[in-house]
Amino acid sequence: MTNRQWLLARRPTGALTRDCFTLATAPSRSGQGAPGEVLMQWELLLCAPTIRNWISGKADAWHPVSPMGEPVLAPAIGRIIESNHADFAVGQRLFGLGSWQDEQWVDPTAGYSPIADDVSSVDAMGVYGINALTAWVGLVEVGKPQPGEVLLVSGAAGSVGSVVAQIGRIKGLRVIGIAGGADKLAWLRDDCGIDHLIDYKSEDVAARLDELCPEGIDIYFDNVGGDILVAAAARLRQKARIVLCGQIAAYDGGGPIVPPPIDMMRIIYGGVRIEGFLVTHHPHCVPQALADLAAWNGAGQLAHREDVRAGFEALPDTLALLFKGANQGTLLARISDGAGNPL
Ligand SMILES: NC(=O)c1ccc[n+]([C@@H]2O[C@H](COP(=O)([O-])OP(=O)(O)OC[C@H]3O[C@@H](n4cnc5c(N)ncnc54)[C@H](OP(=O)(O)O)[C@@H]3O)[C@@H](O)[C@H]2O)c1
Repeated sequence: MTNRQWLLARRPTGALTRDCFTLATAPSRSGQGAPGEVLMQWELLLCAPTIRNWISGKADAWHPVSPMGEPVLAPAIGRIIESNHADFAVGQRLFGLGSWQDEQWVDPTAGYSPIADDVSSVDAMGVYGINALTAWVGLVEVGKPQPGEVLLVSGAAGSVGSVVAQIGRIKGLRVIGIAGGADKLAWLRDDCGIDHLIDYKSEDVAARLDELCPEGIDIYFDNVGGDILVAAAARLRQKARIVLCGQIAAYDGGGPIVPPPIDMMRIIYGGVRIEGFLVTHHPHCVPQALADLAAWNGAGQLAHREDVRAGFEALPDTLALLFKGANQGTLLARISDGAGNPL
């Protein structure tokens, strides 16, 4: 078997384009692992907006940085096809930091999680995946929601945002979702049970917020940043929380993402808490989060959709869909089938 790779050819300065990457083929690295390593064959790659940050080469980053000329880093699920570790058998599936290539030697003890046999790879990336856990941690642990509070979620039809909105609904909050386009709003309303919705592409977000929550916002779960963050911050109640999950509107800008103009004295006088987070900052939450997600999913209370695009060669175009709003839920690239055949 050969090892297909997408290598980082240049660090993008604006929107992602295919020429940021080079398609290459390397010989299989079978038999070349160090003691304790396992050879993964990747099956599903998560197309996460933050990969755009990882390839930007920002200095002093607190996130992984994709090296130039190397396969692009990405969260991945794959199967062990060779093992130099007594505790990790051939055939076991693992989730963790992978890269845009078919196979890769990794240290399985360095942050990789086994996938249970009764969970499909798509569910392990989707309804039980890192984005769903992010939603739980961000809303429940960071946001500290109380029944009856007003929760505003941007990117509400996306992988993280749709779970945030539904956890808010389940926990008795009054949820307002912001997303782009009638199809996404219809899915949020009809499948996710979110009644209060704003289409930021065709509506005036500030005016709609004034209509939908004249009393103000208790929690703003921010996936987007920019103008929507400005509109939300101007409408906070006292003791509100801004949960900073992502700033996707600014990822293509290059350089540091500067805060938009917000009246900081309202933040101070209102006792508002602004907190950024990663799910990895709160590992103690993961068992409860997984238990809740399983219970809600089992009870039919949690709508989710995974947008699986097959084909290794399409990877750069697949990742770019996120920044055009062209994904419908958790965006996954399938590069091999369940039997290990490359796609
Ligand atoms: N803190 C963490 O641990 C963590 C973990 C995972 C993800 N995140 C962050 O969470 C956010 C959502 O990630 P995801 O994986 O769930 O992606 P997603 O929401 O499934 O997909 C991205 C969506 O963002 C929206 N979008 C794209 N460009 C935009 C723009 N310029 N302005 C407004 N909206 C825009 C689009 O939806 P519309 O069609 O509705 O515009 C697009 O479909 C990202 O900011 C990501 O970096 C953070």
